[in-house]
Amino acid sequence: MSNGFGTVELAERRAIVTGGASGIGKATAIQLARAGAEVVVTDIDEAGGAQVAEQIGGSFAMLDVSDPEAWDRVVSIAGPFDVAFLNAGISTNQGLPATDGNPIELLTDDAYRRIMAINLDGVVYGTRAVLPAMRERGSGDIVATASMAGLGPIGMDPVYGLTKHGVVGFVRSLAAWFEQTPDAPDICISALCPGFTDTNIIGDGAREFIGALGLEIMPAEHVAGVVLRMIDERVQGSQWAVWPGIEPRVYEWNPAITPEERGV
Ligand SMILES: NC(=O)c1ccc[n+]([C@@H]2O[C@H](COP(=O)([O-])OP(=O)(O)OC[C@H]3O[C@@H](n4cnc5c(N)ncnc54)[C@H](O)[C@@H]3O)[C@@H](O)[C@H]2O)c1
Repeated sequence: MSNGFGTVELAERRAIVTGGASGIGKATAIQLARAGAEVVVTDIDEAGGAQVAEQIGGSFAMLDVSDPEAWDRVVSIAGPFDVAFLNAGISTNQGLPATDGNPIELLTDDAYRRIMAINLDGVVYGTRAVLPAMRERGSGDIVATASMAGLGPIGMDPVYGLTKHGVVGFVRSLAAWFEQTPDAPDICISALCPGFTDTNIIGDGAREFIGALGLEIMPAEHVAGVVLRMIDERVQGSQWAVWPGIEPRVYEWNPAITPEERGV
């Protein structure tokens, strides 16, 4: 089917989407289902997630991505998965930016642990949970949601930037392992790096701030179309920068200093 970016056929493929109750996860769950995938929508928002699942003829599973046991449970009950969209994420203070001081001096221990648990642990635990079945079946696709804040600085939320650079580093490193392992299964992992997108993560304060900078906010459907294209094009270890009005820019994992230059 055409998703506005190309054609991808996902019939007979089973997909899990984290953070699927809202925003980019919801829009992607809808497009995956339209492309023929059997979609398992997961979230901590049970009502919202179940509603999306019903809308697309998929199923819902409660999943806190920061809980490794919950991952094992969901994969054993609702898996195995051919496609994993590891997308759930938060900013340090929903509704950025913090206007009343330095973002690091304002950071509480709880807020720090929470964002690390969701944005980083969630991606690592998710990958660990879905990989064995993909390895057994010989193939799979994993897309992890990072951000443009994983490719460059984000002054208003440095810890968010830390987690998203972490997601990019994890994706690139795991891709390198796949590439370097001769009998590695055909599993492709890549990182989605959107700019500002019209979802609940952008509170009123942030919306004003972004508007004042003269920047555009993209619809989540645009970003979801790029996710389908990533699954279609399968560029190992790539980071897909998504910005309104321009073609996504695809960065490959290859380091700036080539293996030849490093003498290996
Ligand atoms: N909106 C943007 O401007 C933007 C830009 C770049 C990257 N992102 C990233 O996109 C991803 C999706 O965010 P969004 O913009 O759609 O926001 P959103 O708030 O609309 O959606 C996030 C979803 O994640 C769920 N969630 C939160 N904690 C969870 C947990 N512990 N376990 C499972 N689910 C949990 C929420 O219930 C919600 O449904 C995030 O990783 C975010 O960092 C967003």
